[in-house]
Order: sequence, then C-alpha cells, then structure tokens
Amino acid sequence: MVKCQVPWVYSLAALLILSCEIIKAQIIQDETMIKSAVYLSPEFVMKPGTVINRFYHNIDFPRGHIGIKSFNAEVVDEDGVPVSLQDTYLHHWLVGRYYVRIGSEDKGLSRNPNSLDKSDFMWVRNTGVCENLGQYFGLGSETRKTATHVPDPYAIEAGNAAEIPPGYEERWILNVHAIDTRGAVDRLGCTECKCSLYNVTIDEYGRPLRPDYEGGLLCCYDQTQCRVKEGFTNSPRKLYLRYTVKWFDWVESLLPVKIYIFDITDTWKTSNGKHDCKVEYEISQCDSSTVSANGCIDTKRMSFNMPRGGNVIYGVAHQHSGGIGSALYRKDGRVICSSLPSYGKGTEAGNESGYIVGMSTCYPDPGSIKIYDGETLVLESNYSSSRKHTGVMGLFYILVAEQLPTQKSLSLL
Ligand SMILES: *[C@@H]1O[C@H](CO)[C@@H](O)[C@H](O)[C@H]1NC(C)=O
Ligand SMILES: *[C@@H]1O[C@H](CO)[C@@H](O)[C@H](O)[C@H]1NC(C)=O
Ligand SMILES: *[C@@H]1O[C@H](CO)[C@@H](O)[C@H](O)[C@H]1NC(C)=O
Repeated sequence: MVKCQVPWVYSLAALLILSCEIIKAQIIQDETMIKSAVYLSPEFVMKPGTVINRFYHNIDFPRGHIGIKSFNAEVVDEDGVPVSLQDTYLHHWLVGRYYVRIGSEDKGLSRNPNSLDKSDFMWVRNTGVCENLGQYFGLGSETRKTATHVPDPYAIEAGNAAEIPPGYEERWILNVHAIDTRGAVDRLGCTECKCSLYNVTIDEYGRPLRPDYEGGLLCCYDQTQCRVKEGFTNSPRKLYLRYTVKWFDWVESLLPVKIYIFDITDTWKTSNGKHDCKVEYEISQCDSSTVSANGCIDTKRMSFNMPRGGNVIYGVAHQHSGGIGSALYRKDGRVICSSLPSYGKGTEAGNESGYIVGMSTCYPDPGSIKIYDGETLVLESNYSSSRKHTGVMGLFYILVAEQLPTQKSLSLL
C-alpha cells in the first residue's frame, strides 16, 4: 500500500518538488524497517564423492519477537563464491525452531532433530501435517531461484516471549545435506543416492537395508562416499551454507501465517487422521504398458483433509531432478496452487544443466483462495519416467493466514 503522502522525515526544501513517484521510492526505502542479515553456517569440507548430512544447532538467527519475511540460502566457498550444483549438489537444507532450557547443554541435537524430545528441548513445529517434517524452512537444489518472500502484511512469527515457556530460550537448527559429485562415475546416480554407487548395505545406525531398497537417504548419510572415476583427485573444499533472513521487528499490523507442509508419499487415513510421510519415493522407468499419450509421465496423487482452513498466501513445491511439476487441488479439481520446476542450461551456479534450479511459486490475492476447515485437498506430483529415479520427493509448502487484513492494518504498512 503506497500512499501519495509526504512522510514527515523529509527535509522541507526537497519536498516541494517531489513527485508522488519519488515519494514512492522513498517509501520503499522506508521499508528498510525490513531488517536483513546474511549468515554463514559452520564450514563443511567436501572431497570428491563425499556426503555431509549435518545438524548445526543454535545457528545465527535474528533474535527477539520478529516477523520473518524471507529465508534464502545457497552453498558458497571460502571466498563467498556460489558453488555449482554440478560440483556440490545441495540435496536439501532445513531450518527448524526449538526451545532449550536456559543453562542446559545444547548438544543432544547434533544428529537427528527428532531426538529433541527431551525435557531440556522442545521442538517448535510448523502447523502440519507430517510428524517427521517439522521444519520452518527448507529447499534443495532449487533454492537460488525460488521466491520465498512473504507478502505484506503477512509474516512468519517467531520469538514471541509470551509463547516461550519460562526458563527456556528460542533457537534455530540447520540441517545441510550435500553431495560432492566432482569426478563422479554417475553424477545423477550420486544425487539420487543409489545404494550401489555408495557401496552401502546397512543404514546409518547399522541396520541392514531391505534388499529391494535401491536408493534414497538411507544410502547417502553423513560421511558416506559416492563412487568417483578411477584416479580422479581434486582438493578438498571448505564450503558453507550462506543464508539470508529478512524480517520485521514484530508490530501489531503484521498478520501471522501458518506453515503447512504436505508430502505426496503421505498415506493419510480417514479412519484415524494419521499422517505417515515417507518423504521419498521411486519412479520406475516407463514401458509400453505405462506410456501414455503425453509420453512417459509418472503422476502420483494423494488426498487428505486440511485440519484447519484459512487463506492461502504462498505456495511452492519441492521436487528432485526429473520432476515436471506439482499442484495442490480442491476435491473438485480446481487448482489452489501449481508449482513448476525450471532446469538449468549451462554450468554456472544457478544455471546448472540437468538440475532443478528454481520452482515457480504462487502468490494468490489474499482472500481469493480460501481453504475451509476440514476441506479435502488433493496433492499431485509429476515426474518424467523416461528413466528410473530413486529417492525423489514431492513436498508442497503453503502459508496460510487465518486473518485477513482490515483497512486499518493495511494503512499502517
Ligand atoms: C564395499 O564394501 C565392502 C564391505 O564393506 C568392502 O569389502 C569393499 O571393499 C567395498 N567396495 C568398494 C568398491 O569400496
Ligand atoms: C501432471 O500430469 C497429468 C497427466 O499428464 C496432467 O494432467 C497434470 O496437469 C499434470 N500436473 C501438473 C501439476 O503439471
Ligand atoms: C544458462 O546457460 C545457457 C547456456 O550457456 C545460456 O544460454 C543461458 O542464457 C543461461 N541462462 C541464464 C539465466 O543465465
């Protein structure tokens, strides 16, 4: 909302000649009430073929009662230069929120964020719907070209002292899963965590894998090694996840949005309402019996009831290479949000051929797409099945506002 009024901060002389347009620009500058900070994760060292899957707790993050407006991230080297996905594939990064008892040692989270449930820790989850996907933010290879900003007057609220249990403090955890594919025998295979390339037959905790498990996260855990070409050497690199957070200090005119994450592998049951999100799935190569008029497309759908409704403010899908689009529908087929991947065409960071470098997003006019309490929704995820894929994903994030702006809150922004 831009009004052609004269903010009192202007010097009088300049004012007299300012056009409305110039004032508009000034108001955008005024939005430097938006704070912005760039942080680096702890360093991780990558050698050809190495995998890291790290959990960094108590990361640098804006403190206090805030309304988060965007969260962007990318992998950079020691000089701050963005690293190509062809060198270091960013399988995913996730950021989660938790409370920790003041004075306790914040150590138990070094591996699995699900191990947070001790009395000293409390995981602050998103609003739903998968129990094992509690993160606030998270994307993968598409992170550089995927819009994450939350439009005004909405924001993701955090750090509200009234919500933090007495004796606890709020912190953030970052999970980075990256795979170095320099010199890889089969680069796509490494990024899809094909077990044969990792020579892995047991999982991270020493449990044997199902014989039919061909690939996925169970085969590319921290410190596993993907096969590289004979004799290929390349120096280790120190890398970081560089993340940029934009936020407002909380003001009453901001409206909070809830974060929902849906998973195409969720086997939601009407009988008990339980969500079982497996996160990954496989795409079989098409054959004469599965090829359709559109060619080799694997379409997966699942439906579930939205626990609580609200207005959709933002939507985006997460898919892996081979993905060709995902959408959230109402039961009658009307589209709530459709999110399509774009693939790189070159080699430089942000334009890597063969990789999803961005996902399109939805910013419906607030109020135009309202989900009702208990409404049945349908999630759809399409992949090309012209070849087999292991460990692919089909997540969908939406931000939902239960409140719409009143005239009053609009004019304050
Ligand atoms: C694969 O793992 C087996 C057993 O852990 C080991 O004996 C073998 O040398 C490994 N092969 C390669 C190529 O690393
Ligand atoms: C997925 O594929 C099906 C079948 O080809 C098509 O009807 C649908 O529109 C596709 N959905 C998206 C989101 O691209
Ligand atoms: C990506 O790389 C291709 C091939 O080099 C080039 O033609 C294209 O302009 C690049 N795209 C962007 C967005 O830089």
